[in-house]
Amino acid sequence: MSRLDSFIRRLKAQRLCLDWAVDQIADLPGPVLELGLGNGRTYDHLRERLQDHRPEREIFVFERKVAAHPDCVPDDAHLFLGDVHDSLPGAMARIGARAVLAHCDIGTGDSKLTAKLASFVGPGLGPLLAPGAVVAADQAMDIPGCRPVPLPEGVAEGRYHLYRKDPD
Ligand SMILES: C[S@@+](CC[C@H](N)C(=O)[O-])C[C@H]1O[C@@H](n2cnc3c(N)ncnc32)[C@H](O)[C@@H]1O
Repeated sequence: MSRLDSFIRRLKAQRLCLDWAVDQIADLPGPVLELGLGNGRTYDHLRERLQDHRPEREIFVFERKVAAHPDCVPDDAHLFLGDVHDSLPGAMARIGARAVLAHCDIGTGDSKLTAKLASFVGPGLGPLLAPGAVVAADQAMDIPGCRPVPLPEGVAEGRYHLYRKDPD
């Protein structure tokens, strides 16, 4: 498979998982977390899709260095600027409610570093999630209180990862 094909498949899987996740939380009130703003593609997609159900839903973004399209940068109140190692642990004080959806797209080209980051983010994310919350992630993660969920049709095993938080 060419790298172009692989890239396209990854993006299609990402979109299928995000759309699935947004449908799952349609009836659940609560904020959404986006870890890894990048150029803002998935933030923009979530923002657009979430509009259909609950336009008032807040999205909080974690990013160490903003380099997104100017239309896809959250306001300061919804941006945790800095390394997630610093921002994630105390985030609840600012978010104010447990999240019903988290999208983690923090992978970089360095697979060792990415795996290490995922092993920090998973445990840090658990307490920020409401019962029934859904997590979509580019990396497999161990998230306290969450179980893996089968992927939507069309997403190959291991290409993306979905989890759901158990009831309290
Ligand atoms: C793959 S990109 C995200 C792409 C984005 N979801 C999109 O669709 O445009 C990964 C992002 O995670 C951010 N990131 C990686 N490690 C981080 C860390 N330790 N703390 C905060 N942000 C981090 C990077 O700066 C990068 O912008």
